Amino acid sequence: MREIYMDNAATSWPKPPAVLEAMASYQKDIGASAGRGGYRRAVEASRLIFDTREVVARLFGVAESRRIVFTLNCTEALNIALWGWLDEGDHVVTTSMEHNSVARPLNHLKKERGVDVTYVQCSAEGLLDPDDLSRAITPRTRLVALVHASNVCGAVNDVAAAGAVCRERGVPLLVDAAQSAGAVPVDVEEMSVDFLAFPGHKGLMGPLGTGALCVGPNVKPRPLYQGGTGSHSEFTFQPDYLPDFYEAGSHNAIGLAGLKAACEFVAEVTPAVIGAHKSKLAARFVAAMDEMPGVTYYGPRDFARQAGVCSVRVEGMDPALVGHALDAEYGVMVRTGLHCSPLAHTTLGTIDAGTVRFSFGYYNDEEQVDFAARALAEVARRGGS
Ligand SMILES: Cc1ncc(COP(=O)(O)O)c(C=O)c1O
Repeated sequence: MREIYMDNAATSWPKPPAVLEAMASYQKDIGASAGRGGYRRAVEASRLIFDTREVVARLFGVAESRRIVFTLNCTEALNIALWGWLDEGDHVVTTSMEHNSVARPLNHLKKERGVDVTYVQCSAEGLLDPDDLSRAITPRTRLVALVHASNVCGAVNDVAAAGAVCRERGVPLLVDAAQSAGAVPVDVEEMSVDFLAFPGHKGLMGPLGTGALCVGPNVKPRPLYQGGTGSHSEFTFQPDYLPDFYEAGSHNAIGLAGLKAACEFVAEVTPAVIGAHKSKLAARFVAAMDEMPGVTYYGPRDFARQAGVCSVRVEGMDPALVGHALDAEYGVMVRTGLHCSPLAHTTLGTIDAGTVRFSFGYYNDEEQVDFAARALAEVARRGGS
């Protein structure tokens, strides 16, 4: 049976061929651990990681590549920012569209450090009004944590407007760019972003096990871990400089080799072009949904603010059953349920059973979107009968 992968919000697939080649070549020709030896291959490994940092930094307008801290995924990057920055009794402003990777650490911080959390309500399309953000900030606010693009409905927040509000009020801004990195142009300087957390394995099209936190010049969170860095083995404490302060233990060098190739690919195509492709597919898919009796789409109708993640429901059918039928009978792979974001589903009015989520990637095309839409129509027709 034909297979169509439409779960790119979880992780993108397939990857550009250069990513696989770079990973194989690292394992075959280098193989050493970076920063842990003076022999040729160890130096090459260090060079590769340095080059990856440079490529990633350029993609996000980061002037100093040492500010890019590599992590396992976006969740780890968010945790470094949240646990490392927030102290006893601090106030943080976030939104009603956050992923559990922000909401759960904040709940734990509330319990363990008495951190006070304000959730700003987003619209029924999942968008934040920057004026509401401004109203929620108080003199005690130590951080604003904002999702850039929703993993449930694709809504793209105006980070530049939020950044301007935060800058004016003197509050650092943490952006969860899990769904926007590689799909929406992001420039940390222009958008006044202090912490940018992103995965390497979603829109950037790198391998699983990669991610990063960009730590701006005005913030210095505590590291989550301490340990070997390869540098300054004589130090009894963690080296107090970037990126070693945060990067304890051996790197995922094979993953970073893939990430470098992936980011070079994204930089060449450009996030703007990739984003336009995804939102065009979303617009086409939603137009088909609008023609289908009993099918409801949840998310923005302004497709310039749609990152290519479309949530739908079929009247009278459990989303899990719809997803199962799409996979088993049509080979269309989607995710169903709450997508790690109960807050977002409460905002959209879909908390009871979640949604069926079609998330498009660079390698999906219009023909695949039409096939998936027809498959959904058939499932809905049968389900409704
Ligand atoms: C909005 C959002 N934030 C955070 C994450 C966590 O990303 P990762 O799986 O790389 O930890 C995701 C993953 O789906 C996400 O969509």
